[in-house]
Order: sequence, then structure tokens, then C-alpha cells
Amino acid sequence: MLSTKIQVRGQPLPPARNHRMIHSVVCRVSTKRHHRESSVLSSESCPSSDSVPTKTRKSQFCSGNVDGKFGRFGGKFVPETLISRLKDLEEEFNFLLSDHKFQEELTTALRDYVGRETPLYFAGRLTEHYKNIARTIGGGPEIYLKREDLSHCGSHKINNALAQAMIARRLGCSRVVAATGAGQHGVATAAACAKISLGCTVYMGATDIEKQLVLSIKYNDSNTRIKHVKSVEGTFKDASSEAIRHWVENLDSTYFLLGTVVGPHPCPIMVREFQSVIGKETRRQANQLWGGNPDVLVACLGSGSTALGLFHEFVGDEDVRLVGVEAAGLGLDSGKHSATLAVGHVGVYHGSMSYLLQDDQGQIVKPHSVGVGLEYPGVGPEISFLKETGRGEFYTATDQEAIQACMLLSRLEGIIPALETSHALAFLDKLIPTLRDGAKVIVNCSGRGDKDLDTLIQRGISFPNC
Ligand SMILES: Cc1ncc(COP(=O)(O)O)c(C=O)c1O
Repeated sequence: MLSTKIQVRGQPLPPARNHRMIHSVVCRVSTKRHHRESSVLSSESCPSSDSVPTKTRKSQFCSGNVDGKFGRFGGKFVPETLISRLKDLEEEFNFLLSDHKFQEELTTALRDYVGRETPLYFAGRLTEHYKNIARTIGGGPEIYLKREDLSHCGSHKINNALAQAMIARRLGCSRVVAATGAGQHGVATAAACAKISLGCTVYMGATDIEKQLVLSIKYNDSNTRIKHVKSVEGTFKDASSEAIRHWVENLDSTYFLLGTVVGPHPCPIMVREFQSVIGKETRRQANQLWGGNPDVLVACLGSGSTALGLFHEFVGDEDVRLVGVEAAGLGLDSGKHSATLAVGHVGVYHGSMSYLLQDDQGQIVKPHSVGVGLEYPGVGPEISFLKETGRGEFYTATDQEAIQACMLLSRLEGIIPALETSHALAFLDKLIPTLRDGAKVIVNCSGRGDKDLDTLIQRGISFPNC
């Protein structure tokens, strides 16, 4: 495992063991030099369906600079030897953003394979539930769900996995390696690799596999090797380290497919761009449904691909509130949570600077959430920037609140949301009573909860109405 010591101006230096890196995602680096018209990372050049109009506003909060910095966050904290590889990946990515053939292939796959666009569903009974609680005379705020749970493989993770698998193929890699916590990114990666005919190895912590039984069975059905990571805590953090180790040992043939908006530049921006199709569709659907913007966007917050996928399109619309909900686990005082923004500090981890859960010595603290996919000890740099600039609002929901929200949606709408998603839904209890009549609230329904049924049953919870 490579590590490096980096002095960050004005920040305590975390111990070397925490300077773990996710290295370049490039395998055999393309030596072909395309003419790149440096539309670098602008939203205009994002992959999107032709049918999805985007309204990009230049904003101080948008996009990050060419070095992948969002204010003081982000960057590329990797050894010198990897810088050129990351640069090559960045060039390839920028080229593909405006490459017509790639965009067409991606758009077709998102439509015919993933099932996009996903519906923007008016949750009528949930809306009615909150209206009755508030005893409003008018209609109360309206709640809509962006149904990423209806995507192929059951979550938004497939948007990014598919696009990156296509990049892996273009770069001449024969194998993809990934790490997964809740399993959704692993399943999506396995599916994308099957479709594109790439070998796939997914690392998953042994503890997580026990919790996400349904997904590990799915892996066994596909042509994917699953590696159970038994070391240390057997969670996502350990799976990530093992996957990186595997990748570094097989750089020539293997592509490391990152599932969220962390890591060194250009990884966070690349994942965000591939997920931002969610927000672009949402804008168009909102326009069709009520002829304007939503008032509040709500998403659960692990490391941030769910949140940025929905938020990014609206970052420049400052009248749209962007609300992220972190996992408070057993409570913020318990020490067992994943509430990085609520109690974390700035440091460097996995190749970029961001808020992290760390102790007084700068050591990474083990995160906890009943939503296993939220158990990451950091957030993406763009999320940290949204917090620091005040553009994003960030709150927390406990395990218990998330479970209750999961049951409520199941009972009222017949939709079992993932326990990760349920954190966003839990926050509606606090949010809805504060909103005006008729306000439009959109929740990113990031995944379905089939994978969590064992966890819920073990807690004695049943779903009589589903
Ligand atoms: C359904 C679902 N929603 C949300 C997340 C959190 O992902 P992120 O931290 O990238 O937003 C996960 C992670 O596995 C997930 O499976």
C-alpha cells in the first residue's frame, strides 16, 4: 500500500497511515493524443440525453477548477509517479465528454439498459400523511420521489458504473476491480462488466456481506469474483483498501472503478458528471409537472454521489435548497455514526482533501450506520465545499429514524426504500412542517430496500402491507 506524507497548509498533518491513496484509474494509458477542445469539466459538456434540456448557470459553487479543487478541498494527493497517469485519465475523460460517439453509446445504454429516464413520482399518500400531521388547511408541501430505485440493479450506482466500464474498455483494460459497502455499487459494476465483456472482481467486507445477503447471492450468479475481506472490521473501508492493493498490483490490465465522488482529481468530478443525469432529468420533469423548479432537494449523504447526482444541476439556482442527510447512527454522542460533516475535521484521505471522521491523533474513525452504504469516513470534496460556502444544508438522521421512515414509505406507498435512502426520507419529519403550502420537495430515492430485508427482519420488523 502506497502512502505519502503531505503537509497541508494550516491543517494538522494526519499520520502517514491515513494518507492512503486511490491511484490513477488508468490501465494501459492511451498514447493516442486527441485534439481536445478543453471544454474541461463544464456542465455544457456533460453526458446527457438529447431529450434532457439543461440550464447551466455559471456559479461560484459550480464544477471545481481545472485542478479539481473546490476551494481548499479536493486536489490530487498522490505520489509523483501517479500524477501523469491521472493526467492521462483526465484528458481521456474530458475528450469523452464531448465525443459524440461515446455520448451516443452512453445515452442509448442509459435508456435501454438502465431504464432511464426514471420517473419523478408524486408520493400522494406520503404528502397526505404530513398534511394530516401538520393539520394544514391547504394542500401542504408536495413530496416527489426521483425513482432511482427503479434503475437496473436497483440503485443510481449503475449510471456511473456503466459509463466507467465503457471508459475501461476504451483504455484497453481486461478487468475491473471495485469495492462495495451496501453492495449496490458492486452489483452495478458486475452487471456493467458482464454487458461490456470485462472481467470483474468486487471486494466486500465480510461483515457487510452478512448484512447484505441478497446482494452477495446476486454476485454468485454473475461472472464476477467476490473477495470477502475479513481483515480488521470487514467493512467498506477495508474492502476499499484491499481493492486498491489488488489494482496497484495489476496496473497493466486492471481498471479501478470508483463508485462515489471521492479520490484524487479527476475521480470525484468524473463520478459526479456521470450521476448528474439524475438532476438534469429532474429539472425537465419538474418543468413538465409544475412549470418551474423544485423548492427543496433532499438526498442521503454517505460520500456524496447520491446528493451531487441530484444537486449539481441546481447548484446555480440559488432559490433551490440543497439538503443532505448524514447518518447519525446510534446518536452523535455515541461515537457510532457516519456524520462526517456534523463532527468531522478537514484532512487528507484516499488522495484528496475533505472533511473526515478522525480522532484527536488524526486517525480515521470507524463509521457506523444501519445503511451500510453510508459507512464511509469521509465525504467528497465538492460536498465539503457546499458545506463551507453555505450553499448546501446538512442534517442527520439516526438508525432508528431511518428504519421508521423506511417502514412509513413501505406502508403508505408500497415502496421499500434502501436504508441509505431512508435517511433522506427520515428528515421529512423535520423539514415538511417548516415549509409553505404547495412547496415542492424532491427526495432522491436512490435505491430499493430488498437488500436490507434481512437486517430489518433480524430487528423484528415486518412489512404487513407489502
Ligand atoms: C441505495 C444507496 N443510496 C445511497 C448510497 C450512498 O452513496 P453515496 O455516498 O455515493 O451517495 C448507497 C451506497 O452504497 C446506496 O447503495
